[in-house]
Amino acid sequence: MSKITVVGAGNVGATAANVLAIRGIADEVVMIDIKEGISEGKAMDMMQTANLLDMNTRVVGVTNDYEKTKDSDIVIITSGIPRKPGMTREELIGVNAGIVKMVTDNVLKHSPEAVIICVSNPMDTMTYLIHKVSGLPKNRIIGMGGALDSSRFKYYLSDALCANPNEVEGMVIGGHGDTTMIPLKRFATLRGVPVTEYLDSEKLDKIVADTMVGGATLTKLLGTSAWYAPGAAAAEVAEAVLHNQLAIIPCSALLDGEYGEKDICIGVPCLLGKGGIIKIIELPLNDEEKELFRKSAEAVRKTNAALPE
Ligand code: NAI
Ligand code: 2OP
Repeated sequence: MSKITVVGAGNVGATAANVLAIRGIADEVVMIDIKEGISEGKAMDMMQTANLLDMNTRVVGVTNDYEKTKDSDIVIITSGIPRKPGMTREELIGVNAGIVKMVTDNVLKHSPEAVIICVSNPMDTMTYLIHKVSGLPKNRIIGMGGALDSSRFKYYLSDALCANPNEVEGMVIGGHGDTTMIPLKRFATLRGVPVTEYLDSEKLDKIVADTMVGGATLTKLLGTSAWYAPGAAAAEVAEAVLHNQLAIIPCSALLDGEYGEKDICIGVPCLLGKGGIIKIIELPLNDEEKELFRKSAEAVRKTNAALPE
């Protein structure tokens, strides 16, 4: 039986659980939250869609009862506070670091073999924190940010190209931050044809800029951060691991020399499958892209330095 735990049954966690259930990605999905009744209520609501949507996943909701998360194959951590309009992801560090540390300790007590997917912001720093507090092998800790940012990049590209988003390929690497992410326009394609064949540099630069503030744009519209694409992106990463898909998805991974960096979690293309990150793919970046990556890593390191002792 396959089992995924989602910690935090708020906007992103509940959406991830719902996508996992509707798409039948795991046999059982457990949502756990500290707010009394929220996970139970959302799980019951989802289960009442089972006969409507031909859903076969069992969704369970619990409050603080980690025993029920026992033997999860994957744990998705979404617990913590989201950004409000005008806030950066980095400003969440103080509150979220304490939550993520406590949650990591609790889930590993009951699922010592699980692969952990970190969503809570500032995500690259929270992923790094999980490495520090858990001591798990680096392949088992995956930060979700690049999957979302790449999907937003593909959305803006498809819009400019008047194309089906499913026909567009594109990757965003670097930190999951408004100024640190790096949408790789040189590697983006429409059905294998570089998008640079169709879009001039002015249009491409606008797409890159829109992608980088994609989260902030939605936060301004919604009054809190987005959840549909973030939840679906977390489910995509979980599916790639659980189903050993050998999918290449940009994720925040602990680097050990790749891209010229060490002792940092930051977005890079990862080959995902059984056990988590099977391999980090090193792209042939040009000098400009290398410099952007170096600066991005510098900014992520600065946020890491603000982690409480
Ligand atoms: P939300 O406020 O809707 O949900 C957070 C949930 O976490 C709440 O239900 C809260 O009760 C719960 N929680 C708090 N402390 C907990 C604990 N110790 N144990 C279990 N549950 C706990 O927030 P939302 O929108 O779901 O965002 C969650 C996090 O994900 C935020 O930090 C947000 O910034 C981040 N995020 C990250 C993205 C990414 O791409 N990495 C994308 C979108 C959001
Ligand atoms: C997002 O990108 C805020 O990380 C959150 O929507």
